[in-house]
Amino acid sequence: MNIRNQLIGLLSLLPLMEPAAAASLSPSSLTMIPGQVATVTVSNIRGSLSLQNSKPGIASAQLASARITVTALTVGSTTVTVKDTGGKKTLQVKVNPPPMAVSPESLSLVAGQSANVTVSNPNGTVQASSSNASVARATVNGTAVLVQGVAAGSAKVTVRDAKTNRTVNVTVTAAGGGGVTDNTEGRLLASNCFQCHGTNGSGGFEALLGETEAEIFNELAEYASGQEDADGIMAAHTRGYTEAQLRAIAKYLANQR
Ligand code: HEC
Repeated sequence: MNIRNQLIGLLSLLPLMEPAAAASLSPSSLTMIPGQVATVTVSNIRGSLSLQNSKPGIASAQLASARITVTALTVGSTTVTVKDTGGKKTLQVKVNPPPMAVSPESLSLVAGQSANVTVSNPNGTVQASSSNASVARATVNGTAVLVQGVAAGSAKVTVRDAKTNRTVNVTVTAAGGGGVTDNTEGRLLASNCFQCHGTNGSGGFEALLGETEAEIFNELAEYASGQEDADGIMAAHTRGYTEAQLRAIAKYLANQR
């Protein structure tokens, strides 16, 4: 047998030999949002492993002990390529914009009162609509939605951008009865509270600032009805006022900063 025939014989054996394969990646693609971190495991590595990242500004990729740590930085996509002596493998990384969110997701308002809902990560222009405009109205101002309580009842405000829909549940309670329009009455009555709660409710036993009118009124109503701490100082105190007066106090305190 001559050299030539020996070579041909060897070549014919080649297809029987296992072909060298590139390392494998798990998972082999990633869909992320900015700020998210993911780990990809590299297995079946032959020889030394190197990494290339087509757009490191979209997501960074760090290789350490058979793991790739991917940190999504901004919206876009990048291709991470790992190479060993067996060949190349690619990891597609897609960074999507985060979904829009609203805060708070529910509101409790007194008729006539309004509150802002903050919209974060909108994709395009924000729109808002109320399921019942005679209960609550919604007006968009940039990335804030102003919700106004019109009359007692409940409504759903739907906030949407080009991609997402979010709903805010709005409960509106009736405005204070007793014709409290000018709130000097509220201020005068509330001054009885300052000895224990600080001027304008700023401190003392319990600071009252930062609470909504509805929160303060509900707490006062609970004390007055004996639902809350029936024998306590607040129960005794609130029973000295009519409901309209308690509403006037709550309204006054809720509007102090
Ligand atoms: C003599 C002192 C005193 C006076 C006067 C007083 N409070 Fe209070 N208040 C307290 C104390 C003490 C607490 C907390 C303990 C409790 O529930 O009894 C409290 C609790 C409260 C709370 C609940 C706070 C929370 O966030 O849980 C509200 C609301 C409140 N007071 C409103 C008022 C208002 C409005 C007035 C005036 C009409 C008033 N208080 C007058 C002593 C007083």
